[in-house]
Amino acid sequence: MSPFSRLALVATLFATAFVCAAPVSPSQSGPSLQKRSAANVIYQCTIPGTIAITFDDGPFLYTNGLLDILKSRNVKATFFMNGQNYGNINDFAASVKRVYDEGHQIGHHTWDHQDLTALSSADALAEMTKLEDAFKNILGVRPRYMRPPFGSVNAAVLEMLGERNYTTAVVWDTDTMDWSHPTDFQASYSVYESLLNNTDGINQPGHIVLEHEVNQVTALQLAPMAIDLALIKGYKVVTVGECLGDPQANWYTV
Ligand SMILES: *[C@@H]1O[C@H](CO)[C@@H](O)[C@H](O)[C@H]1NC(C)=O
Ligand SMILES: *[C@@H]1O[C@H](CO)[C@@H](O)[C@H](O)[C@H]1NC(C)=O
Ligand SMILES: [Zn+2]
Repeated sequence: MSPFSRLALVATLFATAFVCAAPVSPSQSGPSLQKRSAANVIYQCTIPGTIAITFDDGPFLYTNGLLDILKSRNVKATFFMNGQNYGNINDFAASVKRVYDEGHQIGHHTWDHQDLTALSSADALAEMTKLEDAFKNILGVRPRYMRPPFGSVNAAVLEMLGERNYTTAVVWDTDTMDWSHPTDFQASYSVYESLLNNTDGINQPGHIVLEHEVNQVTALQLAPMAIDLALIKGYKVVTVGECLGDPQANWYTV
């Protein structure tokens, strides 16, 4: 098992434990004490026949080229962005704005790609607020969806996210592992083939697929092939919000 799958599994176990262990009954807390509920962790889409392709770790050099590809297919995707990772978000502000204006979904992926479960609560909070401020400067809003780096979450992180009005921590059910074979798009593409070749899956809850737009081969070669395959197989290529049936008005806050 790869370190990434292991982290996702750990996240699953934490999430399951949390959901079972901590039901908050409204009768236990009066209105003045009522806390915002913790963010949900999700791994899959709920709407059958959807696929939400997620591109992490940008914005970077290939964001605009990827947007051209998405536009040419008339499909939407989800971008989980950092503040300072491969690039600095302020240097790519025009690309960030374009992602938003063209109807793709933007989610928070921490300021500089930290495992939030490994930080003090003050440092974890700073990872969130620093990037929220950058988004607000560029877009006028900030996301309510986030992807925890490495898929790593625990109860404390989900509480913190809920308090900051995040609704959804997005993990994934399918990992292209593109980072481990950055120039071999066929290796990533075969992950899509395994997922989509058997079209029985179209009647099942949809898929959330992980890859990284900071990898040129992923953004410019894999993405169009994967999208075309999904469309040929009859899938709807949509954002994470859409694949959960969550209206666009809920994706961002001020
Ligand atoms: C969360 O939303 C509530 C109600 O809309 C608002 O009062 C509160 O300030 C928000 N919290 C943050 C951290 O933005
Ligand atoms: C998927 O189908 C294509 C076309 O039929 C085939 O070439 C490919 O080997 C299949 N891949 C997998 C992983 O099933
Ligand atoms: Zn990442």
